Amino acid sequence: MSTQTQSRNITLTTLQKIKEAGQKFACLTAYDACFAEIASSAGVEVLLVGDSLGMVLQGHDSTLPVTMADMVYHVACVKRGNKGALIMADLPFMSYASESQTLENAASLMRAGAQIVKLEGGAWIANTTRLLAERGIPVCAHMGLTPQSVNRIGGFYVQGRDTEQAQVILEEALLLQDSGANILLLECVPRTLAKTITDSLEIPVIGIGAGPDTTAQIMVLHDLLGVSPITPKFVKNFLVENNNGIPGAIESYVSAVKTETFPAKEHCFD
Ligand code: KIV
Repeated sequence: MSTQTQSRNITLTTLQKIKEAGQKFACLTAYDACFAEIASSAGVEVLLVGDSLGMVLQGHDSTLPVTMADMVYHVACVKRGNKGALIMADLPFMSYASESQTLENAASLMRAGAQIVKLEGGAWIANTTRLLAERGIPVCAHMGLTPQSVNRIGGFYVQGRDTEQAQVILEEALLLQDSGANILLLECVPRTLAKTITDSLEIPVIGIGAGPDTTAQIMVLHDLLGVSPITPKFVKNFLVENNNGIPGAIESYVSAVKTETFPAKEHCFD
């Protein structure tokens, strides 16, 4: 084990300090022990066991079929490989529909090795966020494009483009922070809106397709490695230009986030 991995143990406090120092941190999805070890050793601060596993591992066309059993299995795999990154895990579709379900399912993810749970929604998840926070379970609120609601949204579209919708997202982000969320994740929103929200919140904001001004960036591992069947605008293949294989590609991503060279203009929505 290297000196770097021995001394590294990322917590929410670490992430808050990075934000307060005006620096950036890098997040990446991971679903198994092998990639969890490579990514955490490459300097990724947050490993997300995302319900994107339904699409990139299981071959579904949405995240809706992912079950709690799937999530618990993959969180336990990631925990075994992790070298000091913070492990975040998704509460999958309909796993936080009632209070008792939410508590039971969040506890299962934490027992398997998660250190923070992520749930999708706006004002309607405020009570759930408070419920979890009061019981000692950290929460990341996922806003903007929320893939679990793809059927209601009508597709994987950019959110918050009109002024009225942008204002609602900003107000709901503030509400979720007040309800106890420790992190906000913004997916596919215009960069100006992501900047306004990041500047308005005290908690770190992680972005994907949200421009360069958020506190942190996240990518889906398969997108970073260029093996996803589709390539959205906000994706960059870090493997193609790298001579040091997968660890090198992930190190390049971490460095690009920290030096603010990723995301570039071509990866942003206006
Ligand atoms: O499930 C996931 O991987 C995610 C990211 C796209 C942020 O939620």
